[in-house]
Amino acid sequence: MNDNIRGEPTVYLNGDWLPLSEAKVSVLDRGFIFGDGIYEVLPVYQRKPFRLQSHLTRLQRSLTAIRIRPPMAEAQWAELFDNLIQRNESDDQFLYLQVTRGVAKRDHGFPNPEVPPTVFAMSSPFQRPSATLRNAGVAVVSLPDERWLHCDIKSTSLLGNVLARQSAIDRGAPEAVMFRDGFLTEGSASNIWMVRDGALHAPLKNHLILEGIRYGLLQELAEQHQIPVHIRRIRQQELTQADELLMTSATKEVLPIVTLDQRPVGRGPHAGKPGPIYAKIRQAYDQLIDAL
Ligand code: PDD
Repeated sequence: MNDNIRGEPTVYLNGDWLPLSEAKVSVLDRGFIFGDGIYEVLPVYQRKPFRLQSHLTRLQRSLTAIRIRPPMAEAQWAELFDNLIQRNESDDQFLYLQVTRGVAKRDHGFPNPEVPPTVFAMSSPFQRPSATLRNAGVAVVSLPDERWLHCDIKSTSLLGNVLARQSAIDRGAPEAVMFRDGFLTEGSASNIWMVRDGALHAPLKNHLILEGIRYGLLQELAEQHQIPVHIRRIRQQELTQADELLMTSATKEVLPIVTLDQRPVGRGPHAGKPGPIYAKIRQAYDQLIDAL
């Protein structure tokens, strides 16, 4: 059932399956006008979605948080994703789903009467982080977190994240690490982890960060490998004393951070290089994918 109409990715828009270039939404869509929507990004390995249930749970949570009536039940989302995977070519894909409050005359208040939400889903070929990248690690720069106070909602309003990411790129780094009131929050599109004395440290799961699906996953993997996990407020200065720093996201999986503001992360033989806790977590993550 691999349509791949005109060699383009096949996407889903409001009940239709179309080539990507034919999928169009109105300029009055509230996603376009206000960024009034939510999204999900989920990885697919060998045509199997990874951690599907966690993504579905977060999707429902985001919809509820912004008061969009869920247009589908969990089983229907799962079926839509399955369909999308089968209609596209790659075995490894990442799926992007966006739901907005729909199309209505421009007015900040919700459309009254209610209008159907816009539902858009697409698949892209997933180039997993290469061995070169995993071995080299990534550079990050520190930036103030200037976003709103509901970063726990996976909202399409990403201006703060976009500007942070671009500032990092302008300074030669692929990712930013953000701090609010002197404490670590997260990356522009990733969660950030600190390793100190053999333990993993992560910021509190609250309204100041998006709880990544890999956040819970890393906790599980750490537990399985007897790595203690401390969820707490982490001061900005602590990162300069870290043994290792890691970043996680659907598309970056888990990667070692090797420089922070151009200074090597860690000490001794591992300074500026991926460390042993990263190696353990990385191996465990790969095993999970292989076992799918
Ligand atoms: N972003 N924090 C932010 C701000 C993010 O945008 C993301 C992921 C994460 C990690 O979440 P997860 O482990 O569920 O991917 C944390 C996705 C990949 C994106 O916007 O493309």
